[in-house]
Order: sequence, then C-alpha cells, then structure tokens
Amino acid sequence: MSTARAHPNIALIKYWGKADDELMLPAAPSVSLTLDIFPTTTTARLAPAAQRDRLILNGHEAGEKALSRVERVLDVIRAQAGRSEKLLVISDNEAPTGAGMASSASGFAALALAATTEYGMDVNTAHLSRLARRGSGSASRSVISGVALWHAGTDEESFAEEIPAPPLAMVSVVLNTAHKKITSREAMVTTRATSPYYRGWVESTREMAAQMVEACKAGDMQRIGELTELSALRMHALIMSSEPPIHYLTSASWRVFELARTLRGVGLDVYATADAGPNVVLLTRPELAAEVARHAEALGEVNIAHAGNGAYLVAEPESHREVL
Ligand code: DP6
Repeated sequence: MSTARAHPNIALIKYWGKADDELMLPAAPSVSLTLDIFPTTTTARLAPAAQRDRLILNGHEAGEKALSRVERVLDVIRAQAGRSEKLLVISDNEAPTGAGMASSASGFAALALAATTEYGMDVNTAHLSRLARRGSGSASRSVISGVALWHAGTDEESFAEEIPAPPLAMVSVVLNTAHKKITSREAMVTTRATSPYYRGWVESTREMAAQMVEACKAGDMQRIGELTELSALRMHALIMSSEPPIHYLTSASWRVFELARTLRGVGLDVYATADAGPNVVLLTRPELAAEVARHAEALGEVNIAHAGNGAYLVAEPESHREVL
C-alpha cells in the first residue's frame, strides 16, 4: 500500500473558468500559496479482485458522486500506467468540518501521489500536478510547496510549479454563516455562459498572474497583497454578474475585507481574499500573523497558516491499517 499527504492551497491569483471541462484546463494561469495546516492523508492499495474502485472518506464509505470523481482520475492514471487493477482508497481530511478550507485540492493531490506510487509509476512533480488537475483544477497547485504558478495551455503545458516568493502567512477567518452552496464547478460554467465580463476577467487574470510572478520574485509584499485582493474582488464581481447572480460573500465577509483596509490604514501589510464561500482569508507577513489574528478574532474563528509542503509520501497511519 502507498500513503501520501497534501495540504490545501489558497489562490493569490484566482482560477475561475475552464478552457476545457473534460481535461480540466484553466482559461488563465493562477498563483497560490500551499498551506501548512489541515492536511489530507490518503492510502491506496491494489484490489485486484474488485470490480470497482472503493473510497472510504473520513471513515465512511463515500457516496456515488465522490467515488466517480475519484474513479475518473484513477482511470487516467491506469491508462498511463498500463494497469487495470482497481484500488481501495482511504482518505482523511484534518480540516474540521466547516473550516472553510476546500479539501478537494489536498485530496486530489494526495490521491495522485498515492495512486501513482501504488501502480509503480515514476512521475515527476509536473506530471503529478497534471494528474491532480484532472480531479480538481486547484489540486494541481497542492502538489507544489510554497507559492505555485499553475500554467494554462494544453494538457501537457498545464501543470503547476514552484516560484520564488518571500515568506507569507495567512489568517483564515471562518464566518458563522449557513449558506446553500453552489459548487465552484457549477458556478464557473454559469459565469462563463452568462457574464458579459468573462472575457475581460480571463484577459486581466493573465496580466495579473504575470505581475504576481514578478512581485513574488522581487519580494514586493505590498504588490503581492494588492494583486491578491484585486484578483479576489474581480473574481467575485464576475461571479455576481452571472445570470442568475451568484453570491458567495455576505455582509460578514465584507467586514473582514474592511478590517484589512483599516489595518492597512495604520501601516500593516494585510490583504483579503475569498474563494467560493463566505469565509475570508487574510494575507500578511509571518511576523504580523498573530497580531492580525487578534484583530480578526472578533469577526470569526481564526486559524494561522504559513507556507507548507507539496504532496509527499508518508507511512500509512494506524487507522488506515485497521481498515485494510
Ligand atoms: C474559487 O479547483 O475547486 O477556489 O476545478 O472544478 O474542481 P474544479 O474547481 P476548484 O475551484 C477553485 C476555485 C477557487 C479559486 C482558486 O482556488 O483558484
């Protein structure tokens, strides 16, 4: 059996919209920070007698939807490996439920590494990133340590790689809101089909990604932060311009964006970003993280994170051995 671990990532330049829904190719490049909290640990074991792959997620037999997403990725891996045996997959997320950290990125990054290892494939990081991408676009970036640039382009060209960047920290602010969630995947399709701003978004994301790479290389924290917040605001403006409109941010979310502005007003490098939900993540310098967290505590439950590692192999946990 083979076990791998991977962590969530938060985009600094957002991925929103696909050029190819089947191959999971993004319409534009994106940039993210892999975090050091809330890992997913996934074990894969060959199951030669099984008719279908099997997925045990957080201790429970996964439903059809989650299983078929996993099967699609495993089919791609099997085709490349020239193997036909099915797998038993056991996966656990350490993110507390409702922590606002999507586990699909860490989950598919860990799955790609555990499965390719179990099938005896020797894949480099770029190849692993392409495979993780087939499960969830953002998973291509969780394979990578620290700050990752995910290239747009063809199947071959579209992988993530690490880029030089200064030390960064993130304070996630989990807000107490029970909203009916429209998945990113569905919402991306609606946005592409109905927003008159979609083309402008794709064009501006290409530019912002290039600028972000430069800002990271220069270690320019202020520019990194400004671009991060700008990309998030443009993405949410785009999403809100869909028909019917889609709203992920609530009044509680906007209060966290306002906090970032207030803290900048007193000279602190704090910038806000948010994904397909109400929770907000504050980007800052590592030395300011504790202070930023203290300010944000009044608005929601906070977690501090720093740059984390990409996907790596680990010994299988005791709990996985018990299932096997
Ligand atoms: C808002 O990677 O979850 O978090 O590729 O359809 O699985 P699929 O979508 P997913 O979308 C992430 C969208 C985002 C922005 C980002 O992480 O870049």
